[in-house]
Amino acid sequence: MRHLLSAADLTRDDTLLILDTAVELRSLADRPIKKLPTLRGRTVVNLFFEDSTRTRISFEAAAKRLSADVINFSAKSSSLSKGESLKDTALTLEAMGADAVVIRHGASGTPHRLANSGWVRSSIVNAGDGTHEHPTQALLDAFTLRRHLGDLEGRRVTVVGDVLHSRVARSNALLLSTLGAEVTLVAPPTLLPVGVSTWPVQTSYDLDSTLDKSDAVMMLRVQHERMNDAFFPSAREYSRRYGLDDRRFALLPDHAVVMHPGPMNRGMEISATVADSHRSVIVEQVTNGVAVRMAVLYLLLSGQRSSPAAEEATA
Ligand code: CP
Repeated sequence: MRHLLSAADLTRDDTLLILDTAVELRSLADRPIKKLPTLRGRTVVNLFFEDSTRTRISFEAAAKRLSADVINFSAKSSSLSKGESLKDTALTLEAMGADAVVIRHGASGTPHRLANSGWVRSSIVNAGDGTHEHPTQALLDAFTLRRHLGDLEGRRVTVVGDVLHSRVARSNALLLSTLGAEVTLVAPPTLLPVGVSTWPVQTSYDLDSTLDKSDAVMMLRVQHERMNDAFFPSAREYSRRYGLDDRRFALLPDHAVVMHPGPMNRGMEISATVADSHRSVIVEQVTNGVAVRMAVLYLLLSGQRSSPAAEEATA
């Protein structure tokens, strides 16, 4: 694997290799010194053209815990604001010796353009492109689900809300089905994308009828910033039909977990009490994101010489 661009590119074996490597790396989080020497001398560039809290910080933490050098590049404070092109930005990063470029961009397909352009030799990692994909979010979600539910074969995951604008929903639909889970997308008709019938999922407009059969429910953020039209009559109506409130929370089986990729609109797609409840794994998703992103960087940049534990022993 040279790049990580799409969950669709990952076979079941690829996915399990990343998730099992992340299990090994997650144990680092419990140690007083959270560092391995594995990527010493390598440079990871975080190239973010769109805002991010979790993804940018966790890629930075992941790279630093593997002893890589990290360059954080924010489009707002760069020459991009003076009109510099993606190509010239990429050539600049290449000249600085980037080994991996972690890119988030508002335009779907930008990471693929960078990976296939021939402008850079670095590994490209998609950290979210437009409404298309967010593969490391799906990996950290699968990692979190496996911690709570074990093998995902036959497990039922319900993904609820603004599927139309969600790169998280698409990547999860692809990755979770690769792992054998049964994914149901629940949304108003206006927030399901054209072509969803070709996805490896079931769809429903009725949240109440899916909850008692769900092993996990993943709430999606309503992406107001991508909506230039009215997709539902009012926030109150959306919340009433598709919000995970206390009444709906009570319909879930006892073992079911509640997820959200963040950032959350509390009171809109999820109530504050549900978000903070004992069955919410939303904060744990963030912790797991560091381990999963460490695994991705490790596997892309180390050439899989040996396991992280073996590398530590010989350091
Ligand atoms: N889940 C996610 O991508 O969050 P950020 O936008 O904060 O990175």
